Amino acid sequence: MDRSTSENKLCPFSLLFLFLISSASGCDRCVHQSKVAYYSSASAVADGACGYGSMAAGFNGGYVAAGSPRVHRGGVGCGACFQMRCKNANICSRGGVKVTLTDLNKSNSTDFVLSGPAFMAMARNGMARELNKLGILDVEYKRIPCDYESKNLSIRVEENSRRPNYLAVKFVYQGGQTDIVGVDVARVGASNWQFMKRDYGPVWSTSRAPAGPLQFRMVVTAGYDGKWVWARTAVLPSDWNAGSVYDLGVQIDDVAQEGCDPCDTRDWK
Ligand SMILES: *[C@@H]1O[C@H](CO)[C@@H](O)[C@H](O)[C@H]1NC(C)=O
Ligand SMILES: *[C@@H]1O[C@H](CO)[C@@H](O)[C@H](O)[C@H]1NC(C)=O
Ligand SMILES: *[C@@H]1O[C@H](CO)[C@@H](O)[C@H](O)[C@H]1NC(C)=O
Repeated sequence: MDRSTSENKLCPFSLLFLFLISSASGCDRCVHQSKVAYYSSASAVADGACGYGSMAAGFNGGYVAAGSPRVHRGGVGCGACFQMRCKNANICSRGGVKVTLTDLNKSNSTDFVLSGPAFMAMARNGMARELNKLGILDVEYKRIPCDYESKNLSIRVEENSRRPNYLAVKFVYQGGQTDIVGVDVARVGASNWQFMKRDYGPVWSTSRAPAGPLQFRMVVTAGYDGKWVWARTAVLPSDWNAGSVYDLGVQIDDVAQEGCDPCDTRDWK
């Protein structure tokens, strides 16, 4: 989507806001050089800073990771997808592994701490034992679009929500290579949108939720550009329940739009 289309859809304030946010993120598709480690326990990447809890284990076939503050980006990076491969060609495959970010690891010595299965998936056939011995690996990685072919963008109503007015939701199955940077909620058919604020990671809340049924709209950025994504239908019924997951009926599949050439030309197949 080009800038002129965005201007039609976003008010000037939003556009400025988007610009300030997205200029900081730089070229999202470029390859970075870093290190990764792994957790021996699966639960280590399943809770904490992204709040996915036990859901995380089901993301991406268990190929999940905790990111350093640089990758986690104050929670905006929760749910983002990355491809990485280790630089030791004797031990690691060229394609590497694709992981989903589900937690924060405050250690700055590695950019990712992978789940055990994700770490081992970087090995070439028959080299798993050798890989396991290394523990910390030099890798290159890049952000890639998340692919949830069989899932729409969805929200899980958080346990601390209280009908009618206190609503906290967590976004899951956010496809593409995008950041959600704004969320509004309104009663279906009404035009007075109430903004929600980011509590942490993928969790947004408002203490002024209208009575349902409720519809949502999100401001989504991809690189230097942004747009509204609308869920026009009733997403939450009037009697929404804490703990339930509701389908927004849309999929986000945008990829970063900024000019990443020549850094995005390498094929990792
Ligand atoms: C961060 O990762 C390391 C492994 O590299 C682990 O030992 C440590 O416990 C993790 N820290 C947190 C807070 O999970
Ligand atoms: C990691 O780096 C950030 C900023 O670069 C710093 O604020 C933080 O204290 C560092 N964390 C550790 C555990 O060294
Ligand atoms: C996604 O939403 C569309 C409506 O926009 C619906 O037709 C479709 O069944 C949904 N897909 C899934 C997997 O729920």
